[in-house]
Amino acid sequence: MSHRQLLNTVDSDQKKKIMENKNVKGKVILIAGGAKNLGGLLSRDFAAKGAKLVIHYNSESTRKDAEQTLADVRALGAEAIVVQGDLTLRSNIIALFDRATEKFGGVDIAINTVGKVLKKPFVDTTEEEYDSMSEINSKVAYFFIQEAGRRLRENGKICTVVTSLLAAYTGLYSTYAGMKAPVEHFTRAASKEFGARGISVTAVAPGPMDTPFFYGQESEDAVIYHKSASALGGLTDIRDIAPLIEFLVTEGWWITGQTIFANGGYTTR
Ligand SMILES: NC(=O)c1ccc[n+]([C@@H]2O[C@H](COP(=O)([O-])OP(=O)(O)OC[C@H]3O[C@@H](n4cnc5c(N)ncnc54)[C@H](OP(=O)(O)O)[C@@H]3O)[C@@H](O)[C@H]2O)c1
Repeated sequence: MSHRQLLNTVDSDQKKKIMENKNVKGKVILIAGGAKNLGGLLSRDFAAKGAKLVIHYNSESTRKDAEQTLADVRALGAEAIVVQGDLTLRSNIIALFDRATEKFGGVDIAINTVGKVLKKPFVDTTEEEYDSMSEINSKVAYFFIQEAGRRLRENGKICTVVTSLLAAYTGLYSTYAGMKAPVEHFTRAASKEFGARGISVTAVAPGPMDTPFFYGQESEDAVIYHKSASALGGLTDIRDIAPLIEFLVTEGWWITGQTIFANGGYTTR
């Protein structure tokens, strides 16, 4: 084969990959924390684009949101299931992918929105709080990426939600930012290991987002500060983050190993 013929083959292989990755129609998308807030919006957006959905939730208090999200995505014409589970147990992550595989035969895109925030002085943080923050923000992310790496179909996509605090120089979020930080390296390492199968691995780092997750630990003064701290003004909206994640797992497939900050100019690095 001539060099030119070889290049043409590479080009058409590349193009084929791009075409395959552009569209989520018929693809199976598993969203950890897919019942409400950012995850709930992603579930609805992907349903509107013709994807099949595995919507995970954790707490009993989220069951209603999960049922509503399921009803909404079905109304949009999507096939979908809801799966409950505490993903700090690796066995529950495996069970989540098992359910997806039983129902749909495989998974194409795996998105992890799971997280827990704690705003507390370093000297007051307890061992229990440290362990819980570590399990939910780091351990879940690690074994979710691991299971996705084992199970995803060729040319699959993995995305984890982290935080813009990874680029902030601030106190009080030592366990939150500290336990999201390793995800950046998990993302880099997994992207190298899974790349040969066309699987991209990314992380998205939103600014303070206008959801109950944010307000739980912030005083009124702190909310005013966070609103004033973005260059574009105000808090991050889930509607500004969902399109970025949707891009990364479709047309943006060439971006891999990266953590992308999206925060209206709140932090940079
Ligand atoms: N809101 C913000 O200010 C902000 C800013 C930057 C980044 N983020 C990140 O964005 C992501 C989504 O946040 P959000 O604002 O949309 O709030 P959210 O809906 O409360 O998202 C957090 C999710 O984590 C799940 N979760 C917690 N513990 C879990 C466990 N042990 N096992 C499985 N799932 C568990 C929650 O499920 P249950 O509620 O059912 O337990 C919930 O679905 C999080 O990763 C967060 O760290 C948020």
